[in-house]
Amino acid sequence: MDGKGDQKEMMMNKKTVKRAPTAGKVEKVSFRDLVDIPSTTHATFGLYNYPAKFIPHVITHVLENYTDPKMSVFDPFGGYGTVGTVSKISGNDYEMWDLNPLLGILHPISIMKPVTIDIQNIIKGMKNSKEKFVPDWERHQNWFKKEFLPFLYRLWGYYHSLQDKKTKMILTIPLLKTTRYFSYDDMQRQKLSKSHRSEKRVEKILASDWKTLFFQMLERDIIRIQNGQEEYQRLHPKKTKYKIQTGIDVMQQNLKENKDVLITSPPYVQSQEYMRQAKLDLYWLGFSEEKIRELSKLEIPYRNVEPCPIYSPTYEKCLNRIEEDHIRKIFQRYFWCMIGTFTRLQEKINSRMFIFVGHSSTRGRSTPIDVILIEHLSKFGWIHEKTLSDKIVGRRLFAYSINPASKRKDARTTIENLVIFKRRS
Ligand SMILES: C[S@@+](CC[C@H](N)C(=O)[O-])C[C@H]1O[C@@H](n2cnc3c(N)ncnc32)[C@H](O)[C@@H]1O
Repeated sequence: MDGKGDQKEMMMNKKTVKRAPTAGKVEKVSFRDLVDIPSTTHATFGLYNYPAKFIPHVITHVLENYTDPKMSVFDPFGGYGTVGTVSKISGNDYEMWDLNPLLGILHPISIMKPVTIDIQNIIKGMKNSKEKFVPDWERHQNWFKKEFLPFLYRLWGYYHSLQDKKTKMILTIPLLKTTRYFSYDDMQRQKLSKSHRSEKRVEKILASDWKTLFFQMLERDIIRIQNGQEEYQRLHPKKTKYKIQTGIDVMQQNLKENKDVLITSPPYVQSQEYMRQAKLDLYWLGFSEEKIRELSKLEIPYRNVEPCPIYSPTYEKCLNRIEEDHIRKIFQRYFWCMIGTFTRLQEKINSRMFIFVGHSSTRGRSTPIDVILIEHLSKFGWIHEKTLSDKIVGRRLFAYSINPASKRKDARTTIENLVIFKRRS
């Protein structure tokens, strides 16, 4: 969306939603300009294409301006683990959670020291491997050409038989990425799905010398990972304590000890299905169909949840303007998940919370999640210090000007807000 579109959207938000009486000011910023990091994929920040991940600039800005290295940092929706990767540079201890087990696999790769590996020897090992790994996923054959499967079983058999942990770590992302490229997934959609475009891609691969292509791509990607890890070392990561919990449900998990700051970006209303996107990788990594099903049932907002009180007139106003019952249900369920989670977690946060949210839309109408959070959290002793408002550049997933479902002008996230809360002393 262009600048005019953003302005119109903000005007619409202004018209429909008054700011909460407790609200601090909103400052327009560009995090990319505020922080001196050459790109959003610098070092290890973009090794893996995790949907809706933080850009490192946001976390760096927060840590540089609001914390000192003695303070502990907590991200309950860790995702790719950017909060941890930046915390290590500033020297802060951190804890991250996520439902998605990928966090526990990807984050250690992002912060590991580079090691030298003999790529040609690995490729030779793969070619001669007698090991075989078949994913525990009944439908995996629908996602790959039958010609590719025996080859992939062997490569992944080699991977799972590797004894050297570090070599295995370096190989993980390149093998996942190249395997996905050989699948029917349309990788531009950030949601596991077949398309005409991806079918054409697979046919083209099949018509080529595809085994050679696979190893070329793999080698190129191993080098990319190693370069990223070297770049990360040049940012001088410190020795810090960290804890990662994955496969956990944020709605049932409690912090064992207090943390100084919370920095997070929760899922948006209906905008992403993280488990659906990750499952192709998780199966190849050895997770079972049963485990993935169990985790998917817990994903916010596609899950059951008990109602909880929401102290926000803006929430009531947005809810009341929704006529369709099933949409009301989705809307309520999302806020019960989100608000319930923050209401519980805030009890263990000592000083500040930084919550990165967009203006999601329901039936083409903007929902100011930030205002709802500000109103609600003020009841629990949190002062809204300010909001830093940035325009999304890289994270935009869709670019419709008219929402095809509602036939209204699209009000999906284009502006994102970092809402900063301070505990009342
Ligand atoms: C916006 S993403 C976070 C991205 C993260 N900030 C990053 O930099 O990669 C939201 C995350 O919430 C996680 N999530 C969804 N439901 C959850 C639940 N019930 N418990 C824990 N995490 C959940 C998703 O797996 C996803 O990684």
